Amino acid sequence: MSRKAALAAIAGTVLVIIVMSGIIPINASSGHWRLTAFVLDLTKRRSVDTHSFFIAAPPLDDPAWVMKGAGHYESGCASCHGSPAAPRPRVVMGMTPHPPFLPERIRRWLPRELFYLVKHGIKFTAMPAWPAHSRDDEIWAMVAFLRRLPELDGAGYRALAFSARANPVDSLLSDTRVEEDEATRERCDRCHGHDGKGRGVAAFPRLAGQNADYIVRALQAYARQERWSGMMMPVAASLDDRAMRNLATYYASRQADAGIESVDGAAIARGAAIANNGIPAQDVPACHACHVDGGDARNLAFPRLSGQFAEYLVLQLQLFAEGRRGGSSFAALMQPIAERLTPEQRRDAAAYFASARR
Ligand code: HEC
Ligand code: HEC
Ligand code: HEC
Repeated sequence: MSRKAALAAIAGTVLVIIVMSGIIPINASSGHWRLTAFVLDLTKRRSVDTHSFFIAAPPLDDPAWVMKGAGHYESGCASCHGSPAAPRPRVVMGMTPHPPFLPERIRRWLPRELFYLVKHGIKFTAMPAWPAHSRDDEIWAMVAFLRRLPELDGAGYRALAFSARANPVDSLLSDTRVEEDEATRERCDRCHGHDGKGRGVAAFPRLAGQNADYIVRALQAYARQERWSGMMMPVAASLDDRAMRNLATYYASRQADAGIESVDGAAIARGAAIANNGIPAQDVPACHACHVDGGDARNLAFPRLSGQFAEYLVLQLQLFAEGRRGGSSFAALMQPIAERLTPEQRRDAAAYFASARR
């Protein structure tokens, strides 16, 4: 055996003995040595920089994205990282490494690096990966919000993360099954707006006046991970069947607001033609064959589209067309239709439905 091989064998044996003896402390209580913390932080920064190098960030100034990110930050991140409205809970300070107070840390990262961190999480720490891998759009919304975080005070944060009259108690870390209907509903209203009427911009879909069966099926699909959203999957998984049914009945009974005005009359007219007649040349059926405005629904498991935010409808059509939405067992009816529409036709149909009365 050469000298090198002998040395390697000895080093290997010593390592095995050290590990097997159990003397390496894994306790979180003592924190890291300065040197360990320095090496780990450097490794993290270098790794994130290298792995995110080819990720191109989209424009991040859409107010709907900022609001969407803020809504999820309150339920999915603040419980570890704190927020401008609340400090970190005591219990997370017992973690090693403990979650940093994020407003102070954002500026050290580029948008692409934040995207990578939020999408993939950080190994050997409590930092989780994004639950829905097909939803980069949601992760960019989170990044859009994180970029705003350092400049927000408590009131500014609350205005973004809470709809008026919403309940501040909402954390995905509390694993208790939600029983109390009204408290649960306030949780939903924080994002979906008072009585499910939306929050003015298309960050979150309107639920008021939606068909109850469709709502139940949508919640079940999220809970079973058959419809993919890192924001809704954890919320739906915390609801039992009874809560889903009660929430759906409640939102279905709410009076929807009037249709959402759009300035583009020509787009609405083109969309109305698609809704009424379909596009025979592209084998697209009339949307109204399944989606009925007002009056009696054809099938209560088919969603109402009228009065919904146009940008939300466009997003869902795009997700269907790219195989990234998932959905209930009826989603197979919708996916091929979305695939056959051009992006322009999707926008036209959405403009029409948004302007129609629910
Ligand atoms: C269960 C606790 C927990 C949750 C929930 C959590 N994180 Fe973290 N996060 C951590 C920990 C712990 C670290 C520190 C890891 C380290 O020091 O290497 C971290 C680190 C980060 C970092 C890097 C900060 C830095 O400067 O090193 C970002 C950015 C981040 N988290 C964003 C988020 C976002 C956004 C969410 C919500 C979608 C979230 N985290 C949810 C525990 C959590
Ligand atoms: C953190 C913000 C947030 C909270 C809290 C929240 N939602 Fe959502 N919800 C969303 C987002 C974002 C979407 C769109 C997800 C997607 O793209 O699939 C959504 C979608 C939905 C949908 C599907 C709507 C459709 O037209 O297909 C239903 C139903 C729903 N939510 C019900 C609820 C209920 C009930 C609650 C309370 C238990 C709730 N949500 C709480 C953000 C939230
Ligand atoms: C054969 C029936 C059928 C036809 C025709 C149809 N859809 Fe759908 N659509 C569905 C079903 C079913 C769903 C709900 C899928 C689910 O439960 O996940 C849906 C969902 C949608 C959604 C998502 C709604 C939400 O709240 O998330 C949009 C947007 C949509 N359809 C647009 C259209 C447009 C535009 C047309 C016409 C070009 C059309 N649909 C034609 C059956 C149909």
